[in-house]
Amino acid sequence: MSAEERSPAVVFRHPWLKDGAEMWRVARDSQRLDLNTPYAYMLWTRDFHATSLVAEIERNVVGFVKGYWRPEEPTTLMIWQIAVDESQRGKGLAGRMLDELAGRTDAYSLETTIVQDNPESNRLFASFAERHGAQHTITDLFAEEHFPDEDDWQAELLHRITPLREDLRAGTTERA
Ligand SMILES: CC(C)(COP(=O)(O)OP(=O)(O)OC[C@H]1O[C@@H](n2cnc3c(N)ncnc32)[C@H](O)[C@@H]1OP(=O)(O)O)[C@@H](O)C(=O)NCCC(=O)NCCS
Repeated sequence: MSAEERSPAVVFRHPWLKDGAEMWRVARDSQRLDLNTPYAYMLWTRDFHATSLVAEIERNVVGFVKGYWRPEEPTTLMIWQIAVDESQRGKGLAGRMLDELAGRTDAYSLETTIVQDNPESNRLFASFAERHGAQHTITDLFAEEHFPDEDDWQAELLHRITPLREDLRAGTTERA
């Protein structure tokens, strides 16, 4: 059995309109993300195509990352959502999506918000920062009381990772 048969290749590409529904499905199945309307994912593929990626295995979308340039700091890529289908988790796919997106966009800084009790996501971004030798700072951003019904929401902490190294921005960083 060839290496490819054992582990099918992952294709990373910027999403098109037809991917919106699959991104919505991956988000829904994650049972973890705040699920936006399908319309929001479709709109995203149109207006934030260049700062988002889907991961495909055998032509099936198995993960996505949605990002945008912060309007007031346009070298900072804000990651809104990232998710991987359960069957593909723990294989480094989310880390590879972040590397790929940061490399393709030439981002200088990367930000996201994460709740404290999401160990996978916290580890994903900590590991990204370590891998690229960047500073990783965590500060308060959206507190429970900012949400419409504070009992249903957890505080979202702001993670900022900067500066990203030239080699990553040139798309040449190797993952261990
Ligand atoms: C968070 C998520 C995207 C990670 O995807 P993934 O492809 O499994 O992540 P990776 O395999 O690239 O692992 C990234 C890091 O997290 C670690 N990790 C993975 N699963 C973990 C778990 N259950 N607990 C603790 N750490 C974990 C990995 O070991 C790796 O760290 P390392 O580089 O130091 O080894 C995935 O768990 C997911 O879709 N969760 C639901 C949606 C979500 O919570 N998204 C984030 C909020 S926006």
